[in-house]
Amino acid sequence: MPRHIVLVGMMGAGKTSVGLWLAKAKAIPLYDLDQLIEEKEGKTIPQIFATEGVEYFREKEMELVNQIVSYPPGVVATGGGTLINPLNFMLLKRHGRLFYLQASLDLLWVRLKDKTDRPLLLGKEPKITLERLLKERESLYKAADIEIAVEGKTVEQLGELLWNYWEKMEKTNLS
Ligand code: S3P
Repeated sequence: MPRHIVLVGMMGAGKTSVGLWLAKAKAIPLYDLDQLIEEKEGKTIPQIFATEGVEYFREKEMELVNQIVSYPPGVVATGGGTLINPLNFMLLKRHGRLFYLQASLDLLWVRLKDKTDRPLLLGKEPKITLERLLKERESLYKAADIEIAVEGKTVEQLGELLWNYWEKMEKTNLS
């Protein structure tokens, strides 16, 4: 049974864009955790954070990870914080190949500074928060199977690169 392609990394790294591209180009299912949570809850991520809080969101995220690991193989676009939960990390690692979409703080900031849909960055010093989150999470992301630097690459290039790695890993049956 092939494993999921699991995209991990910070918000703004391009997980959703690469996930969408792969799903379309390679005709595989897309499991975008944030989008699935929004659909299930009938609310946007900022609304969920504002009304139910971050703990509730993390619970929903964990429930979803538990479900999607038994779905047909596809591409999983995680949220930037999904791997914080060790159970999510364990399940995704067991059922998927993890790809870290690596981007520098500066690149992430350029992409995120005008966005309003990332509740964790709504505070006073969003760039400092982003830097802290990156520092806190980097070791989790780096535990991925493959790390790919996104800077200077198009979504298509990233998708093809990742797909080639995934095919090789599946063919050689690396465990
Ligand atoms: C979060 C990242 C977001 C979303 C939520 C929390 C995080 O996903 O899950 O706002 O903790 O970094 P993206 O990485 O898709 O922006």
